[in-house]
Amino acid sequence: MREINNNLHNACEEKVEVGKIGCFVKNLFKIKNPDEMIESANKGGIQKTWGAFDLIILGVGAIIGSGIFTVVGIAAAGSPESAGAGPALVLSMILASLACVFSAMCYSEFASMIPVAGSAYLYTYATMGEFLAWIVGWVLMLEYLVGYIAVASAWSGYLIQFLKGFTFLPSFITNPPIWLINDYKSAVATLLKQGIDPATVIPTIAGIPVSINLPAVLITIFMAAILVKGIKESTNMAGIMVVIKLAVIALFVFTGMFYVKPQNWVPFAPNGFEGIFMGAFIIFFAYIGFDALATAAEETKNPQKNLPIGIIGSLATCTVVYVLVGLVLTGMVPIAQIDSHAPIAHAMRMVGQDWVAGLISLGALTGLTSVLLVLMLAGTRILYAMSRDNYLPSILKSVHKKFKTPHVITVLVAIICMFGSVFLNISTAAELCNFGTFTSFIIVCIAVLILRKTDPDRVRPFKVPFSPLFPILGIVCCGGLMLYSMQFLTTSRFLFPLWLALGVLIYFSYGYKNQRKNEKNGK
Ligand code: ALA
Repeated sequence: MREINNNLHNACEEKVEVGKIGCFVKNLFKIKNPDEMIESANKGGIQKTWGAFDLIILGVGAIIGSGIFTVVGIAAAGSPESAGAGPALVLSMILASLACVFSAMCYSEFASMIPVAGSAYLYTYATMGEFLAWIVGWVLMLEYLVGYIAVASAWSGYLIQFLKGFTFLPSFITNPPIWLINDYKSAVATLLKQGIDPATVIPTIAGIPVSINLPAVLITIFMAAILVKGIKESTNMAGIMVVIKLAVIALFVFTGMFYVKPQNWVPFAPNGFEGIFMGAFIIFFAYIGFDALATAAEETKNPQKNLPIGIIGSLATCTVVYVLVGLVLTGMVPIAQIDSHAPIAHAMRMVGQDWVAGLISLGALTGLTSVLLVLMLAGTRILYAMSRDNYLPSILKSVHKKFKTPHVITVLVAIICMFGSVFLNISTAAELCNFGTFTSFIIVCIAVLILRKTDPDRVRPFKVPFSPLFPILGIVCCGGLMLYSMQFLTTSRFLFPLWLALGVLIYFSYGYKNQRKNEKNGK
């Protein structure tokens, strides 16, 4: 492909008649040279401060969040559109982590070879050209922004659980109206489950029912404010947040194991393979985040060695933690009684450990806050990279005069997230985020295979072992889980192509043209 691209490129430059279509195709597949990327990154002069251990901490900080604190309940017990795995959740977790490991190795090969910020977006730019790079950037936005919405919704669930403990506070705080703490779909589902007619509870404005997740909206405003002001202090906080997060998970596992009743593990897989595969698809959300480590490549000391250790190390740590939580949770609570908003804290309440539940809620809130920060940061940085490459209006590139942060993008991202949290419930948001992430993983696996052919002599400090088998297994695991789940997830299988179509529309109506205009002007 690179050869074709170069031929077409020369043809256009030498004004040999290849026709409009030839030039158009050339532009779509125009690649960025990895050496140029590395050179311009080195010019940037970013300090290299991260070692392997720092990366594992950063990785665990980005990975462990609403997946294990909330989505785990949906993966085990199911949702209206997906069958639950039941106690076989642990198998789903191992399956999901396998899909991640193959892709993680591919990420590591790229990250050690092209250690610049930009991750999958740039890897695609280096191998498959401009159009697919845009698509990857666009699905990464889905991963980070819609992932953010899912985590914000989980954050709201744990806040409510936490506030329930303060019985001396007014009841509108300890027990707020359902339409103030849920998106409309979730509010209706909860009311119907309780046998209440939603029309009697949810207020309307001009005939339109109003239900907003107010805590999610408020935390989004807070996050945006922190990111506009600058993140120096908040990255220092990340380490503390990781420790708190792991401490409450340890508290859950070591307290909960005494309440495990082995009969709750029977039947082990109530929905058979369907439950296990759907559980793997859903719980995949809990692993998302290690790819964000690749974006720290520019800031890593000896990235060739440290990045693969950081990426694979944090993935392995999380898998062990998740399997332990999965075993204890499904052993403590009968599947039908697992809560979908705050399953871990709820499980503790069910066995009468209210104070542990309170501590877990507090720890979960802290842990989820660190994930919110990473996701919003990653979302703004990918948008920034795309606007720097002229695919989006240049106003988005503007940096705040005093704080030196991309404030316009941050506010835009916050508005999108607030808007999204009004319309998307946590399971749809997590599913959409998974579709986006699976797509970018598949493209990175393909990119590794392509670059091995087109640029075999490039130094690869870390090489995916057993290539092409491992990248192909990555494609098969991610693609298989994605295609399998599409037969059941009617809402997200409709929304995901819609998002892709919107991306294609924006690229051809703005990005493509703007890129050519800038090329003409020699920018
Ligand atoms: N893996 C992240 C979480 O579970 C997205 O919240």
